[in-house]
Amino acid sequence: MKILFVGDVFGAPGRQMVKEYLPKLKTKYNPHVVIINGENAAHGRGITEKMYQQFIEGGAHVITMGNHTWDNREIFDFIDQAHQMVRPANFPDNNPGKGMTFVSVAGKEIAVINLQGRAFLPPSDCPFKKADELIAEAKKRTSLIFVDFHGEATSEKQAMGWYLDGRVSAVVGTHTHVQTADERILDNGTAYITDVGMTGPYDGILGVNREMIIKRFLTGLPVRHEVAEGRTQLSAVIIDIDDKTGKAKKINRIMINDDHLFFE
Ligand SMILES: [Fe+2]
Repeated sequence: MKILFVGDVFGAPGRQMVKEYLPKLKTKYNPHVVIINGENAAHGRGITEKMYQQFIEGGAHVITMGNHTWDNREIFDFIDQAHQMVRPANFPDNNPGKGMTFVSVAGKEIAVINLQGRAFLPPSDCPFKKADELIAEAKKRTSLIFVDFHGEATSEKQAMGWYLDGRVSAVVGTHTHVQTADERILDNGTAYITDVGMTGPYDGILGVNREMIIKRFLTGLPVRHEVAEGRTQLSAVIIDIDDKTGKAKKINRIMINDDHLFFE
């Protein structure tokens, strides 16, 4: 089974990149399952129902989230009906939504889990213990398990990769918005990358207008976060999993921008 995962879609520029390139990526790589991190889709903060629907209609099977899950208040009106959305599973138990979902394609089922790190991020339950719990539940149905670990610290993401090695098909990191060049198959068959990178503005700072961020560093004063204008990028990975064992065979990075051109 081939999975295409698109990293943090940021604002209108990110949504435009998905609209433009998802069909091309599907033609080129033929993924069975498409997963998109959409926690920055609405101007960098959260997601609306319309955006969620557009991703699903555009061919995504699951939308994953992160620390901005609740930032667009519209989410509370639709997350419990959004069966193809997962938010970090280690949020408190009484939170709306869910942290794991299953996708069926071509007679196979894959579990998609979203977790959030605790280093340099707001408090949450232990993502490692929550992973143990959800993997035990998922294994009753399938050996194909995909994890989006939304975290700031490289060490915490590497720790999660090795902790889950051999128990899940893939652990991909999101949140830092910069793609890391450490994609690999870990010793026991888990595909891993510290961060897939962001899909959206190419010339901002993590997607935000750079003049504003520089001003903040120079003055220490709060600034409005506006989505950067101009050139755009798409960051993704394509992962090939052995259907029988659930182990990953291959992980490849995808980066599309003016310095890394897309060839059909
Ligand atoms: Fe994030």
